Amino acid sequence: MRIDIISVLPELLESPFSHSIMKRAQTKGMLEVHVHQLRQWAVNEYGQVDDYQYGGGAGMVMMCEPLANAIEHLQNERKYDEIIYMTPDGKRFDQQTANRLSLYENLLIICGHYKGIDERIRQHFVTLEISIGDYVLSGGELAAAVVVDAIGRIIPGVLNDETSALTDSFQDNLLAPPVYTRPANFRGWEVPPILLSGDPKKIEQWRYEQAVARTTERRPDLE
Ligand code: ADE
Repeated sequence: MRIDIISVLPELLESPFSHSIMKRAQTKGMLEVHVHQLRQWAVNEYGQVDDYQYGGGAGMVMMCEPLANAIEHLQNERKYDEIIYMTPDGKRFDQQTANRLSLYENLLIICGHYKGIDERIRQHFVTLEISIGDYVLSGGELAAAVVVDAIGRIIPGVLNDETSALTDSFQDNLLAPPVYTRPANFRGWEVPPILLSGDPKKIEQWRYEQAVARTTERRPDLE
């Protein structure tokens, strides 16, 4: 999968994809992330990409021309399965959307800043608007990093068995059960004996029950 990201702050997106599973996905050739500085398509030599909003009001709006030129430049190279705009008024991001997006070949993500992007870009280019939660970030970059991470780790072949995504929270609409590692007794706090029983069937049943109990208690909306 290839993901292109248009941003006025590409520096914010350098680190999130340079470590751990995101790094491995790229080294294995399963994920390519390309970040493009929107100011390459600025309307003047000062690098302008935003302007005052029509009708007045505080806050700048990202202009049509640089965004349209950036998107069309990238579209000349490849066809995108989705053109995604990161915005707090978008569809709430969840595991189901991550699963769906992880099966695509090419995604383009637009990061907004200031008051957002001119509505006409949303109408004429954007195919999917994503919010990562009901709060406002200072720009779309951190939200884009969240989405790329959630997608990247479940691209088929990226995770090995030990880190399999199948047992994650939300796959099955269940939260994940509690996990423990050595020692079996830490300060008198014991690991549930069933996990030391060596009986895979019982352990699986216990984990399922724990997942159900945890979901009922914390996230009844998922059931
Ligand atoms: N940009 C600013 N806030 C955001 C949010 N909550 N989700 C996605 N993009 C955003």
